[in-house]
Amino acid sequence: MSKVVFGNSMSLDGFVAGPNDGPENGLGDGGMRLFDWYSSGDTPLPLPGTNMVFHISRASAELLQEEWSKLGAMVAGRRMFDIAHAWGGNPPGGGPCFIVTHHPAQEWVTEGSPFTFVTDGVESAIRQAKEAAGGKDVSVASASIAQQCLQLGLLDKIHIDLVPVLLGGGVGLFDHLGITPIDLEVTRVVEGLGVTHLTYRVIK
Ligand SMILES: NC(=O)c1ccc[n+]([C@@H]2O[C@H](COP(=O)([O-])OP(=O)(O)OC[C@H]3O[C@@H](n4cnc5c(N)ncnc54)[C@H](OP(=O)(O)O)[C@@H]3O)[C@@H](O)[C@H]2O)c1
Repeated sequence: MSKVVFGNSMSLDGFVAGPNDGPENGLGDGGMRLFDWYSSGDTPLPLPGTNMVFHISRASAELLQEEWSKLGAMVAGRRMFDIAHAWGGNPPGGGPCFIVTHHPAQEWVTEGSPFTFVTDGVESAIRQAKEAAGGKDVSVASASIAQQCLQLGLLDKIHIDLVPVLLGGGVGLFDHLGITPIDLEVTRVVEGLGVTHLTYRVIK
């Protein structure tokens, strides 16, 4: 059955971007450190759907290859879409991409666009992404969407690429969850170069 999986690089103090992030400062002040591990090793790993190639440890490459091969569609928020400049029309993963927003980007509402703009909430975006994923998993790519998925009980798996840095501020991954504890089970820990990959199952 199709699972909903969040994945991001995160600092030890829980930030997925530094302060002052925006289209001209993608990961915010100091936030590029979160992606340093993408060039920390000598095993090449092409990012599907793009022309980017990471160079990472063998352990990281094997893990990511396995995880990425399970993904069939992506859900992201409008800030990430804008900050990534719509990935130049080639969203990572290469599959259909659902952008949760109040304001569809009309220039991408075209025949053959990889983007579907969802204006009726996260639940609807996940439902549409699951339908489009053809039985594969749905990746959730941005922090605000992950938190809403957790609150709605829609998230099955959390994959954190934990980077050994303290950013001190920025976009917090778990800032707006409320006070109800959400229990997780650690299902995998893989040590890479400059990163520790932590995978959790969300207990429902
Ligand atoms: N560390 C990593 O691995 C990694 C990877 C990728 C990105 N990032 C960073 O993550 C950050 C983006 O995450 P984010 O949490 O700040 O923003 P986000 O989730 O990408 O976007 C938030 C925006 O999406 C729209 N939205 C969210 N929920 C909605 C809802 N229920 N209904 C309608 N619209 C909704 C709203 O925009 P509108 O009201 O304008 O429509 C909202 O302001 C960026 O800093 C990016 O650089 C980090």
